[in-house]
Amino acid sequence: MPRHLRFPRRSFLGLLFLFSLSTSALYFIYSAPGIVNEYLFMVQARGVQIRENVRSIGVQVLEQVVRGAYSNGTDYTYDFNLSEPHFQTTTYLPDGFTYHPDQKCPEKLPSMKGPVDVNMSEVTLLEVEKTLLEADRSLGQGGHWKPQDCQPRWKVAILVPFRNRHEHLPILLRHLIPVLQRQRLQFAFYVIEQAGNEPFNRAMLFNVGFREAMKDMDWDCMIFHDVDHILENDRNYYGCGKMPRHFAVKLNKYSYTLPYNEFFGGVSGLTVQQFRRINGFPNAFWGWGGEDDDLWNRVQFAGYSVSRPPGDIGRYMSIPHHHRGEVQFLGRYRLLRRSKERQDVDGLNNLNYAPRVTRNPLYTNITVHLTRELAPVADY
Ligand SMILES: *[C@@H]1O[C@H](CO)[C@@H](O)[C@H](O)[C@H]1NC(C)=O
Ligand SMILES: *[C@@H]1O[C@H](CO)[C@@H](O)[C@H](O)[C@H]1NC(C)=O
Ligand SMILES: *[C@@H]1O[C@H](CO)[C@@H](O)[C@H](O)[C@H]1NC(C)=O
Ligand SMILES: *[C@@H]1O[C@H](CO)[C@@H](O)[C@H](O)[C@H]1NC(C)=O
Repeated sequence: MPRHLRFPRRSFLGLLFLFSLSTSALYFIYSAPGIVNEYLFMVQARGVQIRENVRSIGVQVLEQVVRGAYSNGTDYTYDFNLSEPHFQTTTYLPDGFTYHPDQKCPEKLPSMKGPVDVNMSEVTLLEVEKTLLEADRSLGQGGHWKPQDCQPRWKVAILVPFRNRHEHLPILLRHLIPVLQRQRLQFAFYVIEQAGNEPFNRAMLFNVGFREAMKDMDWDCMIFHDVDHILENDRNYYGCGKMPRHFAVKLNKYSYTLPYNEFFGGVSGLTVQQFRRINGFPNAFWGWGGEDDDLWNRVQFAGYSVSRPPGDIGRYMSIPHHHRGEVQFLGRYRLLRRSKERQDVDGLNNLNYAPRVTRNPLYTNITVHLTRELAPVADY
């Protein structure tokens, strides 16, 4: 083919390509303005994800090259200092740790292997009960368990707000209970179910769960856990710390990126002392959204900063579902502007309720009918 014919054809194809790109952009902007934002966000999120993959692939390639160079198999001294624990080859234990039944359990244990096999298939609660009790007979009523081979570092109450998600709960329990056992924590589960017809109030359910759990025993760490969040790495340690902790850092529904730096939703944890100091969650958020941002503000106003697990440890998968009838809370931005003023008057200190508590093998069921009158807010 003569040379001079090639270029026009190529630029014609280029033009065609650009044209199709711009028409699809126009399609998004004019025909579907609602998805433009989400589309842009996903593109940006995927960009970040690709960059991270390239980085870890780079590490793997380097490892192959070095392995090849030292292929005689002796004196393999090259130390890959990788902050990502996925690649750690040494024993997963703190330096110099010796295991003893009288000693506090460490936060890192060889039983914590990293990635968890997630199985989203529906399963009955009875099946899960049977499997878990067969695996460990010391699992008690209310899903209460404590390690026998060392002293638990934290006594953890797992609080799960609930309404209409009966198929999700067994999936959560079947994944989370074995992980907490491997982490050698003492724990129990509290499912706080909202009765009545008011919009879902996740935050107020957490406050109720906190109060009720503390009547059982002197827990020292509270984990606030959505029922549809399944952790993907058992090194995501569910103990508390000097600072409030955000566990659910990378969600599959956000392409495994943090949606925004102040994001505090999904799974978070505070010591009992920290939770009391910030006056718990706000009670005024009726409907979906905003209460986690308010908790973030409360934590900041109290002088704390939020800690997070590094790298891929904070990965979660959410159980697929449709937002069944749960309404968004549109008044959240107005409330969030007055976070600071509201902190002292709305929370653990203005909370009234009458719960119905029943014990199940794997969790305590706290059913509570919530109305706005139960959390009156004084002027602020
Ligand atoms: C094997 O590789 C190591 C590199 O750590 C080297 O020091 C050693 O001399 C090699 N041994 C043989 C037999 O090639
Ligand atoms: C690994 O790297 C981190 C910083 O990237 C450093 O703080 C740490 O001391 C290193 N560990 C070893 C064993 O070299
Ligand atoms: C997932 O769970 C279902 C229900 O318990 C089970 O039948 C299936 O074998 C599991 N799949 C895997 C891959 O373990
Ligand atoms: C909790 O108990 C109530 C009855 O008090 C029951 O209607 C509800 O289904 C139970 N919820 C769960 C998740 O077990």
